[in-house]
Amino acid sequence: MRKNIVAGNWKMNLTHSAAAQLLEGLAAGSYPEAVRMLVGPSFIQLEQSQRILADTSIQVMAQNVHQAAKGAYTGEVSTEMLTSAGIQTVILGHSERREMFQEDEALLTQKVDAALAAGLEIVFCFGEKLDERKQGKQNDVVAQQLEVVLSRPQADWSKIVLAYEPVWAIGTGETASPEQAQEMHAFIRSLVEQRLGAEVAEQTSILYGGSVKPSNASEIFQQPDVDGGLVGGASLQAEDFLAIANAF
Ligand code: 13P
Repeated sequence: MRKNIVAGNWKMNLTHSAAAQLLEGLAAGSYPEAVRMLVGPSFIQLEQSQRILADTSIQVMAQNVHQAAKGAYTGEVSTEMLTSAGIQTVILGHSERREMFQEDEALLTQKVDAALAAGLEIVFCFGEKLDERKQGKQNDVVAQQLEVVLSRPQADWSKIVLAYEPVWAIGTGETASPEQAQEMHAFIRSLVEQRLGAEVAEQTSILYGGSVKPSNASEIFQQPDVDGGLVGGASLQAEDFLAIANAF
């Protein structure tokens, strides 16, 4: 059975002490054993996060990685830096990286290949913008963005988590309705099935992201093809993040 996952993307928030406080709150909290939990702090807080969460089953993931193995790339972090620090998961393809840091499909293909080759698990994000949904193009946009991973049938698909994040729902307080989420997630799973077969499609966790909070998590997670959430704002409060994990 595929896993239920609640993953927090902290983005560029939290000082060192605020992060420590959040991590301690998470470490003291409880959530169902069947739910896999991850937090995604900034690079500089990865080590502190691993330390504070050491006695818990909450895993620590990175928010980004560079495609090159090593070299003169000032300010960047390599796959080997992550794996050698004990990090096993990385977010790729987030709409903020696509939009603000010009991460196009060619670059994302390189990053996906580099991460998977290094043995990292990827949380691959994609989703349409508001005007694309208004024009009814959301399925085409998602199918196109998913090509980056669907065109990798040789990949170890147990290391690929998909995260549908409609851009219009990120940080806006607006969420996709449970029906909209289910419709898209079923479409995504059908694409995976067409290209990689029913078994891979059944095993792949597909997360929803975009203004997930304690008050809406349960109805979204109840949808049969929604396997959890990638949470931004609400992952910055231990109580909210734990409440979301307890919404399953
Ligand atoms: P919000 O939960 O703040 O809308 O952010 C979602 C997101 O982008 C997670 O990656």
